[in-house]
Order: sequence, then C-alpha cells, then structure tokens
Amino acid sequence: MHTCALVAGLSLIATASAHCNRELLVGATETYVAAQASGNSTAVSSISVGDLTYTENEQPVDIHKGVLTTPIKIDHNRSVHDAENCASFTEIIAASNPHPYVIGTRILYTESHQIKLIESIVTDEGDWLFNATGYLYWNSLENWDPIPEELRDSRETIKAAGDAYFNRFMNASVEVPFGVPCSRLEGGASTAPLNLTGDTCTAAGMPSTLVVTNRRYVVDEVMGVVDIYLGFPGLDRTVPDQHMPDSHMFRVESGEIRYIHTVSSCVAPGCGLNGTLFPPPTRTRRVRPHL
Ligand SMILES: *[C@@H]1O[C@H](CO)[C@@H](O)[C@H](O)[C@H]1NC(C)=O
Ligand SMILES: *[C@@H]1O[C@H](CO)[C@@H](O)[C@H](O)[C@H]1NC(C)=O
Ligand SMILES: *[C@@H]1O[C@H](CO)[C@@H](O)[C@H](O)[C@H]1NC(C)=O
Ligand SMILES: *[C@@H]1O[C@H](CO)[C@@H](O)[C@H](O)[C@H]1NC(C)=O
Ligand SMILES: *[C@@H]1O[C@H](CO)[C@@H](O)[C@H](O)[C@H]1NC(C)=O
Ligand SMILES: *[C@@H]1O[C@H](CO)[C@@H](O)[C@H](O)[C@H]1NC(C)=O
Repeated sequence: MHTCALVAGLSLIATASAHCNRELLVGATETYVAAQASGNSTAVSSISVGDLTYTENEQPVDIHKGVLTTPIKIDHNRSVHDAENCASFTEIIAASNPHPYVIGTRILYTESHQIKLIESIVTDEGDWLFNATGYLYWNSLENWDPIPEELRDSRETIKAAGDAYFNRFMNASVEVPFGVPCSRLEGGASTAPLNLTGDTCTAAGMPSTLVVTNRRYVVDEVMGVVDIYLGFPGLDRTVPDQHMPDSHMFRVESGEIRYIHTVSSCVAPGCGLNGTLFPPPTRTRRVRPHL
C-alpha cells in the first residue's frame, strides 16, 4: 500500500512540473506555421485567448493586420517547445518568397494550451545582416536533430550555456562553454566560413561592456535548445539608447554551444552601419560583428 501511494505521489509531482503537454504545443506551432504560409491570421486567433497580446518587433499590432495576414512561401521552419513553461519558439526562413523574410516567434500558452502571447521578430531587407538566402544556406549545413534521450542535458545545463554567453557580454572573466564546431548565424551571415570545423563563435570576438536586458527563455531538452529573447543595447547605431528586439537560439550538446541563430530587427536600414559590419573572411576589412 505504501509503495503504491508513494508511486502515485511521485507521478503527480512529475505531472505537476510539466505544466503543458509537449504534443499539444507541437500542434500549436504547426498551426502557427501553416497559418503564416496561407496568410490566415484567424487560424492563430482561433486557438488564442480573447485578449491575446500580439507584437511585431515589440510593437503591439492587431494580429489581423500584421504579417500573419500575408501568405509567405516558407523554405524552412523549426520550432522548439518548452512544456514546463508552456512556451515555444519558431524560426521561419522565407528566401524564395518574393519578399524574403526571417521571422522568429515566441509564443506563451495558458495551461489549457490556448495562446496568450505572441512576440514576433519580423526581419527583412535592412535588418541586422539580413540575407534570407544566406540564412537558409548556412542552416542547411547544420544538424539540429533531436538529441538522443540518453545524451540529453538538463534544462539547467542548457539554460546556463545560453546565459553564460550573455553574462560574458559584461564580464570578460565568464567562461562560455563553446563546443567544436561552434558557429553563429546572424540575419544570414555566418561565422562558419572563418573555420568550418572549428569554434568560430569565440574567434569572431565578444564584447565585455554590454548589459542585455529583459531576458525571456524557451528551453527544450529534446532539441537541446535554449532561445533567449532580449533587448540588445546599441545594436542600431542611429538609436544607441534603445534596446533592439533580438532572439538568440542556442543549440547545446553535452553542455556545449554548437550553433547560435540570431534574429534582430533594426530601426534604420542596416542598423545604421551601411552594411559594413560583418567581415566576410575574403575581405581585408576587419570589423567586429554583433554576436
Ligand atoms: C515546417 O517544417 C516541417 C518539418 O520540416 C514540414 O514538414 C512542414 O511542411 C513545414 N511547414 C510549412 C508550412 O512549410
Ligand atoms: C482560416 O482559418 C480558420 C480557422 O481555422 C478557418 O475556419 C478558415 O476557413 C480559414 N480561412 C481560409 C481562407 O482558409
Ligand atoms: C547571401 O548569402 C548567399 C549564400 O551564402 C550568398 O551567396 C550571397 O552573396 C549573400 N548575399 C549578400 C548580399 O551578402
Ligand atoms: C565575473 O565573472 C567571474 C567568473 O565567473 C566572477 O568570479 C566574477 O564575480 C564576475 N564579476 C562580476 C563583476 O560579476
Ligand atoms: C579549425 O578548427 C579546428 C578544430 O578546432 C582546428 O583543429 C584547426 O586548426 C582550425 N583551422 C584553422 C585554419 O584555424
Ligand atoms: C551611413 O551612411 C550615412 C549616409 O551616407 C552616413 O551619414 C552615416 O554616417 C553612415 N554610418 C556609418 C556608421 O557609417
């Protein structure tokens, strides 16, 4: 009797710690991606609460007037799901669409799996290092398969790897667990060409005086991913006091960062840098990338 009561108690605890059902979250992100492909915002609002909060690049927008009303030919999509926190993140790359886009979308759900918040970072020409063709190409060389069960890191390990990256931005003594290979893909430009088999996340340089604000997390142990939304200070040189909407998605394997995908929007075209920032390895000009 005692054993049964104990087992029953444990399974209750296990259920209580996962507040949402992963499969239902997967269904919701599939609905979201299909809705973006067909330009049917109603398909998303119909699985949302009545007072849904919807933003694009941190500006409140009517979901029935935003990018979800535009059919977009999607070349690639990837979603990660955080059952414990009832959250998801979706990456959409549309390179062959007449109007190319890279879109990052963080969604929060109620415990009954209705969408309550959608934060999209909608990037296109003029946003940070934007090149949807490049995003699609570099992504295609990477392996983001689910992590085999016996090799999965804990939520804490995955989140700590992403946090270390941003803690390093303000403290050069912080060790970031970069793996090999490690490469960072920003807008469409990758650090990978600096060394296709090596760690180019470090090689491309890191700041030590930047405090990123308002970190918001989506952690998926199955995919070995933490996505962090944040305000990126000084990214747009024309508005140095504003924090630009930014998503960094980290793929973590055995505690080490393998890939970083960023989506960052600008106010001024090219964030006021006139496209001079990112260093293709073939050019001699050496300017520090955004990270
Ligand atoms: C999203 O990606 C999945 C997996 O690659 C694919 O099966 C699905 O068709 C894609 N959805 C759209 C709308 O492109
Ligand atoms: C849009 O989605 C809604 C909800 O799923 C559906 O009822 C409607 O038929 C769709 N509209 C179009 C034009 O496909
Ligand atoms: C975009 O990326 C593609 C693929 O890497 C590359 O061939 C192209 O030159 C890039 N375009 C620009 C404007 O950098
Ligand atoms: C910087 O990071 C190091 C290593 O983690 C830590 O010991 C130190 O306390 C940090 N400094 C500040 C000011 O947070
Ligand atoms: C590329 O990275 C690999 C693995 O870290 C290293 O062995 C190799 O020397 C690097 N190559 C260059 C050209 O830096
Ligand atoms: C970008 O170009 C504009 C117009 O030519 C110029 O005023 C500005 O100083 C340039 N900004 C940078 C960071 O080079």
